[in-house]
Amino acid sequence: MVASLQALAPPVCPIGVFDSGVGGLSVLRALQAELPHEHFVYVADSGYAPYGERDDTHVIARSQAIANYLQKHHHIKALVVACNTATAVAIAQLRRAHPTLPIVGIEPALKPAVALSKTKVVGVMATRGTLNSEKFAALLASLQGQAHFMLQPCDGLADAIEHADATKIIAFCAHHTGAIGQFGHTSGDIDTLVLGCTHYPFVALELAHLVGQDIRLLEGGAPVARHTRKLLQAQGLLTTPTDGAPAIHTEFFCTGSAESLRFALAQWLGVEATVNIVAA
Ligand code: DGL
Repeated sequence: MVASLQALAPPVCPIGVFDSGVGGLSVLRALQAELPHEHFVYVADSGYAPYGERDDTHVIARSQAIANYLQKHHHIKALVVACNTATAVAIAQLRRAHPTLPIVGIEPALKPAVALSKTKVVGVMATRGTLNSEKFAALLASLQGQAHFMLQPCDGLADAIEHADATKIIAFCAHHTGAIGQFGHTSGDIDTLVLGCTHYPFVALELAHLVGQDIRLLEGGAPVARHTRKLLQAQGLLTTPTDGAPAIHTEFFCTGSAESLRFALAQWLGVEATVNIVAA
């Protein structure tokens, strides 16, 4: 009897998560913690990375290709764009192309930064693509007068993290934090630093070492995970333990070399996983 009931249980459709590379793992980590009964399919578009220093046409085309792949081959019930650049540049087109698919994006955590900053001077590290986007301009405009934002396009940093190049990581972190301004807690100092690219949380230790351990670093993974939960709940798509779903299950794919993703998974998530290469 029990066996036949289980056989009737509907399959758990996964949530698709993608980034240009390994950075979205910082969002996946938060999603897995918030949604322990969901299945995930993660795609690193490493064959076409980095997104942050490419033109909008490239980022839109790649985001559409990955979303189409996830829908066609994995029947995803929702999509999380775990990339600030792709969210800034392509999420409107994704929503137009997939009107019935719940899509969640990520944006630099400027609003929480304003609330937390005492000096009201906030540093923002992000890709050039994110900082140049209309979406980011609108976000900045919505917070006009509430804080002073010091914006730093961090060319090269996501790519160095993607390739786990320790020498370049230190050099780019030092260069970009040095260029933002003065960190500290007296008037005019930056006391809060927004990590506006999903790759950067993986170098939080290096950044903290450079700007000072008492400077608050903000990433966006946890709010995205909470928002995803709310959206799934509202649409009756949340998998609960009573659905008979097994423990969390995630599959990993990439469009470039599998090595970076395997290495990042082991180093940052403590996971030994198979990474499949796909031609999306
Ligand atoms: N991780 C991506 C982001 O959040 C960008 C990295 C890249 O430039 O590809 O913006």
